Amino acid sequence: MALIFVTGNHHKFKEASEIAIQHGIEIEHRNIPYVEIQADKLEDVIRLGIQQACALLNGPCFAEDSGLFIQAFKGFPGPYSNFVFRTLGNDGILKLMVDETNRRAEFKSAVGYCEPGLKPKVFTGGVEGNITLEARGTLGFGFDPIFVPTGEDGRTFAEMPAGEKNKLSHRARAIEAFFRWFKQRKTVDR
Ligand code: IMP
Repeated sequence: MALIFVTGNHHKFKEASEIAIQHGIEIEHRNIPYVEIQADKLEDVIRLGIQQACALLNGPCFAEDSGLFIQAFKGFPGPYSNFVFRTLGNDGILKLMVDETNRRAEFKSAVGYCEPGLKPKVFTGGVEGNITLEARGTLGFGFDPIFVPTGEDGRTFAEMPAGEKNKLSHRARAIEAFFRWFKQRKTVDR
């Protein structure tokens, strides 16, 4: 039976699918609108979100919440990234940072898994990088054109094919941690 990924974002589903295939896990996309609370930590947002989704679905499922944490802004937009992306967008972030020399930022991801009657489990992942001076690239989504991961060749996530981003990204790291736990747990439960 396929594991349900609750998300309205087809980019996220595509990224997760590539990782799932490598783990021999079949995942299915379901868009169940759950209420996202406002909280400073992604872990708290996803814990309540996945509990709701699981109750609505009445079955096992996982979801993911992510954000861009800019050091010069003390972590802003962080858990408010979705709102900031929809309002300011990449151009707005670049304008806010125009005189800023500290370009360091981190993408963070929290994956929540829940099944009826169980407490939700949360897995996290992160990737450090820098905010560019201008947007570059057309691949990926969201803040990808303005984020260059540290330790790579200077390309933004939006200049990397999906498979390459998926080896480095915050989401890939959190989902990997979840899938590793999920596979092991199934073996233990048998
Ligand atoms: P959410 O997890 O859907 O709430 O995402 C928060 C915001 O961060 C959205 O505006 C996304 O577009 C953006 N975001 C999340 N993950 C990524 C990513 O992998 N690359 C670029 N932007 C992302």
